[in-house]
Amino acid sequence: MGFYLSGFYRMLSEQPYFDWPEKLQGRLPWVEIGFGNGEFLEHLAGACPHQPMVGMEVSLTCLDKAARRLHRLGAENVRLLLGDARFLLRECFEDNGVERVFMNFPCPWPKSRHARRRVTSKRFADALAAVLCVGGTFHLVTDEAWYAREAMAFLGEHPALCGRLEDAEASDRPVATKYERKWRALGKDILSVVVEKTAPWRGERLVEEGRALHVEVVFEGDLWQCLRALEGREGHQNEAHWIFREVFLGNDSSVLVQVIANDDGFEQRFFLRAVRRNDRVLMKIDDTATPFRTPAVRFSLEEAARFLTKNLP
Ligand SMILES: C[S@@+](CC[C@H](N)C(=O)[O-])C[C@H]1O[C@@H](n2cnc3c(N)ncnc32)[C@H](O)[C@@H]1O
Repeated sequence: MGFYLSGFYRMLSEQPYFDWPEKLQGRLPWVEIGFGNGEFLEHLAGACPHQPMVGMEVSLTCLDKAARRLHRLGAENVRLLLGDARFLLRECFEDNGVERVFMNFPCPWPKSRHARRRVTSKRFADALAAVLCVGGTFHLVTDEAWYAREAMAFLGEHPALCGRLEDAEASDRPVATKYERKWRALGKDILSVVVEKTAPWRGERLVEEGRALHVEVVFEGDLWQCLRALEGREGHQNEAHWIFREVFLGNDSSVLVQVIANDDGFEQRFFLRAVRRNDRVLMKIDDTATPFRTPAVRFSLEEAARFLTKNLP
């Protein structure tokens, strides 16, 4: 399907991330965060067929529903990404690369112990300020007044952003989403936050482009025995954490090490593959999954290679 991209297969090692048909090139995309069943994207895609759009969603079930909906519509102008929008928005677009960002009824995570899961934060404000073009806008709609105020506080105090809070009734809503219908039926007030980028802003990225992701070390012992000792070991450096899970012996005597890497809350799962080459071992990322090249991914690979050199027989 033309519009479907799984966040962890095609796009990650391949730049540019989006393969827009020629007729859509030259326009900056619109992005929807947390598209749910895809109704809003479907409406926009139909109303503006020449506008490239990107949807981001953490739920695979939602992604499947939205993909079917867009397939039925025959939309060629939408790409769907599976993953955490807090990371994807910052890492998949260049500075000034997006015209509008929409977020309809985000999960509010009201408990303070869950506050880290909220999409809006200081870091999100930085990401928005970076990827929006000057004059570009962010549109948030929510039924939670406190959430709208908190988002306004993060976004409104950013030097490159300027926001306003309004009653969504008064604003121009092109379509009511599933959650909008649900909350309106319960008589809840719907609030809208509109934020404009008013000044240039340079964004920082985690993904390290162009750095080799393999290490070769001298090692002549029993590779499988040595790497099994990695199971359960953890490491961290600044905001990067990683843990080595199970270790498997491949048919070709190479060894696979399962890794969970976490960069400031963004988790990726993948395998390292250790391949023997005479008196050396090549440690690389196995191509069953292509993680973003974040610091946690690189550190885990370097640590596994270092572990071999320290544990020579
Ligand atoms: C309350 S639902 C709203 C769905 C839809 N926008 C609507 O109005 O009907 C929130 C959606 O955001 C998604 N979501 C939550 N956190 C997310 C994140 N960090 N990145 C991307 N999607 C996220 C959830 O999976 C869920 O589908």
